[in-house]
Amino acid sequence: MTTSPHGDPPLRLVQLSDTHLSRWDGPLRRNFRTLAGFVNDTLRPDLVIHAGDSVLSNPDAEEDFLAARELLGLIRAPMLFIPGNHDVGEPYERTWWTATADRVARYRRHFGPDRWLHWFGDVALIGLNSQIFGIGLAEEDEQWQWLAAVAREVEGRATIVFLHKSFWTGYCGSDGRQGAIDPADRDRILDILRGSRLLGVSNGDVHRYRKTWRGEQFELWGPSTAFLVHREETQKLPAGLEQLGVVLFEFVGEQVKTTFQTTPGLEEVEVGGFGESKLIRGEIRAAMELHQAAAAH
Ligand SMILES: [Fe+2]
Ligand SMILES: [Fe+2]
Repeated sequence: MTTSPHGDPPLRLVQLSDTHLSRWDGPLRRNFRTLAGFVNDTLRPDLVIHAGDSVLSNPDAEEDFLAARELLGLIRAPMLFIPGNHDVGEPYERTWWTATADRVARYRRHFGPDRWLHWFGDVALIGLNSQIFGIGLAEEDEQWQWLAAVAREVEGRATIVFLHKSFWTGYCGSDGRQGAIDPADRDRILDILRGSRLLGVSNGDVHRYRKTWRGEQFELWGPSTAFLVHREETQKLPAGLEQLGVVLFEFVGEQVKTTFQTTPGLEEVEVGGFGESKLIRGEIRAAMELHQAAAAH
């Protein structure tokens, strides 16, 4: 629960996402240090939400989790985390890292719960692990049961859902990953939360800022703090702002204003344009080959 320290609003929340941190020094780690200073000294939030892809690429790289956790400790405000595909794997694809119980356990060990309800003044913030929908793990069932209990708690209250993957807008990356959660899972979430007043849904993953409306509800794509997607790739995605930065949410009672915040001093790199890119591509290729070999047996 976060309450205003001065007894009066607005409460300030920063969503950062897709920090892609690792043990490898380079522009991504430099960008995060710059960003942490901007968040701490200029935005001064009451709470920070990390919307996934904390680590660079490989969800099994323990050293990268340790390095990411250390760097993320530069943020002075309290933080909540939800996992991305690079943190725990993907739910549907079998040609990528797949989410497993071990990977979810590793994530929780480093970043805390992968789902949460946090009261931010008068608004209920719900964080979901979007990487385990439809995968048949015990963790998925537990999350559905937990969400049903949360729904009773937030009945009639203003609510915002945070998750890594896109909620409404589907797209397909060049590596075959589906950008959005399955529509059946989305409808199930909306049905469970139908008694609340859902203000909107906010995600990471796309590495671009975008805010659209579904009737009364917003769908917000938070930008990456680390790197832009390759320019050829961006032409396959729905339109959005090609900028690194964060999103600031300002709450007055149940009203919320969201703004993209550019961050002075960030190096505008795109995937392919820095040393760690080769590592990302090499590791993804190796993971795909492993899956193909396993499928052939
Ligand atoms: Fe990402
Ligand atoms: Fe992602």
